[in-house]
Amino acid sequence: MKGIILAAGKGTRLYPASLPISKILLTVYDKPMIYYPLATLMQAGIRDILIVTNDSDIDNFKKVLGNGSQYGIRLSYKIQMSQRGIADALLVAEEFIAGAPCALVLGDNLFYGISMPQLLKKTIRTNTGATIFGYAVKDPERFGVVEFDENKKAISLEEKPKHPKSNYAVTGLYFYDGHACEYAKTLLPSARGELEITDLNRIYLEQKTLRVERLERGVAWLDTGTHDSMLQAGVFVQAMELNTGRKIACLEEIAYEQGFISASQLLDYLQGFKNNGYYDYIRDIVLQDVQTQ
Ligand code: G1P
Repeated sequence: MKGIILAAGKGTRLYPASLPISKILLTVYDKPMIYYPLATLMQAGIRDILIVTNDSDIDNFKKVLGNGSQYGIRLSYKIQMSQRGIADALLVAEEFIAGAPCALVLGDNLFYGISMPQLLKKTIRTNTGATIFGYAVKDPERFGVVEFDENKKAISLEEKPKHPKSNYAVTGLYFYDGHACEYAKTLLPSARGELEITDLNRIYLEQKTLRVERLERGVAWLDTGTHDSMLQAGVFVQAMELNTGRKIACLEEIAYEQGFISASQLLDYLQGFKNNGYYDYIRDIVLQDVQTQ
């Protein structure tokens, strides 16, 4: 399973905050935003990941994440030349995907929940077409919206409808079988000039191979599309981290938990970071774990 993070947008809705640097590299509490979607893919067990970005930000992303070896994963980068939509990112990634199943996550989507890693792994095991996730929100008109019948089966998908047929937004995390690129090629640009991911998902819906999982209680989906939601996401992460004493989307910790890197590899890497609360936290976790083994 290949992973793709879409981090190409200019983030104009967050100007002037995102003028100097990609929105996806802005800070959400104690780490750059891209840590969160990357954590989601890593928790799914995905280790081969392409970051689709734009030409002015690619070097910044490389500076932040490098080739991923510090997390025991492989990161590569590709430029989306113009903002042609989320489904276009799959075309940019076509060579990387090479006909394999893939997971696509939007760079500004944060998922949090104890059950998430299990849910993601189950999705990979059982997906037979496309799997997407619905989340109840107060403002569905801002998102892709999924409508369900009385048996909780998805029956329609609409992108930012003026009159939403349900309050379930489609989150920015999508799992596809090996046909995603082939279908994406058949899409036409929408009124906003983009290849819409909702149109791709509708192809799977029409073929009866779309599964929509509802993210219920205990899972938080945070979007960072506005200044307020961005700040709220930071406050949420801060509250969770301070209250539980555990970090959210700490990539080194996830890499260790997933067995992508060993304790000694991680401790070696941490040698480079002294007097810093983030890295001290990881060092403590690993040392405690090693001592109790
Ligand atoms: C995009 C998708 C939309 C989805 C949302 C999730 O919206 O088009 O279907 O619900 O991401 O974050 P956009 O970021 O283009 O507003």
